[in-house]
Amino acid sequence: MAVTWITVIALAATALGASVLMSIIPHNAPPSDSIIKSNRNIRTLKRVSEQQVFEKSLCGRVWLTVNSKTIMRPKDTTLIDALELNWDFSSCSNIPEKIGLFDDRPASWHNALIALVIEKESGYYITNTSLGEGSLPAGWNIGPGLKGPHCLWPWIGAGDDQIEAYNCLKIQPTWMEDNADTINALRIGDLVIPGTHNAGAWRFNTELSKVTRDSFVLCQDRSVWAQLVHGIRYFDFRVAYYEFYQNKEDRYWLNHNLIRVRPLVPLLKEIRTFLDHTLEVVFLDAHHFPMGFYNQDGSPIKSVHRGLIELVQRELGPHLAQASEFLTGPGSKGPRLQSFIEADTRLLFSYVDNAIVAENNWLWPILPHLWANTNNPTELLQFLDQAITVSPQPYARSPLNSAMAQTTPTVLDILFLRGSLRENADAVNRNVTTRLTTRWRHHASIVSTDFFLGNDVIDVSIIINKERGSRL
Ligand SMILES: *[C@@H]1O[C@H](CO)[C@@H](O)[C@H](O)[C@H]1NC(C)=O
Ligand SMILES: *[C@@H]1O[C@H](CO)[C@@H](O)[C@H](O)[C@H]1NC(C)=O
Repeated sequence: MAVTWITVIALAATALGASVLMSIIPHNAPPSDSIIKSNRNIRTLKRVSEQQVFEKSLCGRVWLTVNSKTIMRPKDTTLIDALELNWDFSSCSNIPEKIGLFDDRPASWHNALIALVIEKESGYYITNTSLGEGSLPAGWNIGPGLKGPHCLWPWIGAGDDQIEAYNCLKIQPTWMEDNADTINALRIGDLVIPGTHNAGAWRFNTELSKVTRDSFVLCQDRSVWAQLVHGIRYFDFRVAYYEFYQNKEDRYWLNHNLIRVRPLVPLLKEIRTFLDHTLEVVFLDAHHFPMGFYNQDGSPIKSVHRGLIELVQRELGPHLAQASEFLTGPGSKGPRLQSFIEADTRLLFSYVDNAIVAENNWLWPILPHLWANTNNPTELLQFLDQAITVSPQPYARSPLNSAMAQTTPTVLDILFLRGSLRENADAVNRNVTTRLTTRWRHHASIVSTDFFLGNDVIDVSIIINKERGSRL
C-alpha cells in the first residue's frame, strides 16, 4: 500500500500537477506526513503535499464557512463564529452518505466532532462549534509566515464508510505566487479577485451606541492584515477627513458612511508589510469620500485629496504601479498579472474622482462598482447576474469592475433596527458562493462581500483563475 501511494505522489509531483493530484488520491490514503518521511525527494514532495492535499474530492465539493450572525442559544447565551459545513454534489452521480466536522485531516469517522447524514445533494449545516479566536497559522498571526495555503484547525469530510472528500478552513496568503505558472499570463481584467466591501469596518471604538454600531457598521470582522492573509486582494476603502485632529496624518479615517471607524495610516502599514514580504498584487480602491473631501458646491478640496495621495505615496510608494505606465485602452482587460510582478510594483490604487486622476496620472481610473442598491437578496442577485455579464462596458477605462455582493439597508431599516449587516450578509453569502461557481463563473472580475468568511469566494476564485489561466 505504502509503495503505491508514494508512486502516486511522485507522479503527481513530476508530471501531472495539481488538479490531477486531487482526483487520483486513493480513498484510504494515509495522512501525507507519513508519506513524506518515507521518500527521498523530501523537498518536492513536501511542497506538493502541503499545497495540494488540503482539498480533495472525486466529484463535487465540500467547504467550511464561518457564520456571520450572532446565534441565540438557550439561557441567554450566544454563539458567534459558528462553523458551517457546506457541500455541493449536484454534478455527481453518487451523493455521499455523511458529512462531518473534524479537528484534523479527516481519516476516519471515529474522529469526527460532528457527523450527520446528508439528505440533499447540496446544502449547509450550521454547527454548534465556534471557530474560536481563529488565529492565523504558519506564522502569519504576527507577521509574514510560510508560503502556500495553510489550514486553521477545522476540517470537513464527506463520504460513506470511507472519507472521500475533504477540505479545511484555510488561509491563502500567497495564492497568486503559488499559482503563478498558471495565472500570471492572465490580464488583470480576466482574473477573479476576492474583495471586501467597506474593508476597514472591523472592531472599533467610536462614539455610536453599541447596538446600531454592531448592527449596521461592522462589515468585516477581520483586520486588513488578516484579510490579506486569508486571500483577499481588493479593498474598497471609504475615506473621510476630520480637520480637528492636530496631526495631519491622524485626520484621515476609514468610514462607514458618516461614522468614523478606523484611522487610515495603520491600515496602509499593514498592506505595506504584506507587500514587502510577498509577491502578491493588491488592488486598493478609494471609492467614496463621505466626509471632508468636497466643498458644498461639490468641487473637490484639493489640499485634502493631495494629503491622502501623499500619505499613500509615503506608506506604499515603492510598491505603487503607475497607471500611466501600465494602463491599456478603454474596454480592454488591462496588462497581464506578470507585468506587475516583473516590474515589482504590485499595488494598484484606483481613485473615484476623475479630476484628481487627471492631475495624478499614476492613479488608476474609477473602478466601476456593480451596485444594486437594494435590501432585497433576490433583487441583488438578479441585478448582478445581468451586470456581471455585460461588464466591462466598452468605454470603461478600468479593466476591472467590482460586483458589490451585499445588500444595502435602507434608512428605515437602520432607524428601526430591522435586521443587521451580519444577518444581511448571511442571507446572501451562500448564494454568492453558488453564483460564482455557476452563472458568474465566466465573467466575474472583483467580487466584494461582507463577512467574507461566510462565503467561499477566495478558494472558488483561485479555482476559476487556474481554469481561466490554463485555457490561454
Ligand atoms: C446546539 O445547541 C443547542 C442548545 O444547546 C441545541 O438545542 C441544539 O439542538 C444544538 N444543535 C446542534 C446542531 O447540535
Ligand atoms: C439562495 O440559495 C438557496 C439555496 O439554493 C435558495 O433556496 C434561495 O432561494 C436563494 N436565495 C436567493 C435570494 O436567490
